[in-house]
Amino acid sequence: MLTCQDLSYLSRIDYIGSGFTKLVLKGTLLNGKDIAIKTVHGEGNDVKNCMKAYGDRVGCHRLATYKLQKEIALMQILRHPGITQLHGQCYVNSDPADLRVTAMLDLGTPLEMIQLLQAPWEERFKVCLELVRLLHYLANSPLGSVALLDFQPRQFILVEGSLKLTDLDDATNEEILCRQDTDCTLTFPARSFGVTCSAAGTCVEANEKRNLYNAYRFFFTYLLPHASPPALRPLLQDIMNTTGTLSNQKQLFPAHISACVPSDRPAIKCLL
Ligand SMILES: Nc1ncnc2c1ncn2[C@@H]1O[C@H](COP(=O)(O)OP(=O)(O)O)[C@@H](O)[C@H]1O
Ligand SMILES: [Mg+2]
Repeated sequence: MLTCQDLSYLSRIDYIGSGFTKLVLKGTLLNGKDIAIKTVHGEGNDVKNCMKAYGDRVGCHRLATYKLQKEIALMQILRHPGITQLHGQCYVNSDPADLRVTAMLDLGTPLEMIQLLQAPWEERFKVCLELVRLLHYLANSPLGSVALLDFQPRQFILVEGSLKLTDLDDATNEEILCRQDTDCTLTFPARSFGVTCSAAGTCVEANEKRNLYNAYRFFFTYLLPHASPPALRPLLQDIMNTTGTLSNQKQLFPAHISACVPSDRPAIKCLL
């Protein structure tokens, strides 16, 4: 594991990205390897909005730091090829509020949908397949079924061509609480879904369903149909139908198509 000492020797530090809560930089370790580091984003909307509402700088930084710590904890528990790997963390209480907690992670490149749309179909399918494998893991994780409340392409990166989730602070393993089925409506901009309320008072598989529909609306609709191999179109249509309507299907991506990716064009023969 990397420690505060590795961080103090980090060179060629450069900005790579930021969101509401965190600032992400890259840097080079003494051994020459590049890593990503995450800290609280003091100028980000999370801290700013909190300041507007409560005017408490220390408290607002603490809230954002808590989110980063939650992400670090989740990265330690949820281990999967589809989740960015944590390589270390550093806590220095005497540092300025933004820099007290640092996570050290695999360095990737932000997922650019526009770029991906121009990539060959196999590459786009591979991303979708990796996403499905991640969602399958999240639905059966050591913490129970985990939903990503802020599910968007910008929460993912590519590391050596593989899709990895990097933003985990909005993940939850709590299912929605309910008294009756009508408490269990999953609402999205274009449509909503009814889910049943269990005798135990939680919406059945709501976390899993929510992830699946988000995968459909942010990834599959854009990445799967365009320029797909004609022989696969009926299968792809099935995948789109089941995820777009959240109807039940045991295996989302049938084994015989997933076995063929990644592939060069000629390997598509294995599909026929
Ligand atoms: N390990 C990483 N490698 C490369 N870029 C990253 C990495 N982690 C995050 N990023 C980029 O930084 C942005 C902000 O990180 P994120 O964890 O999503 O912060 P926030 O919680 O503020 O949204 C991401 O949208 C992504 O583009
Ligand atoms: Mg984010």
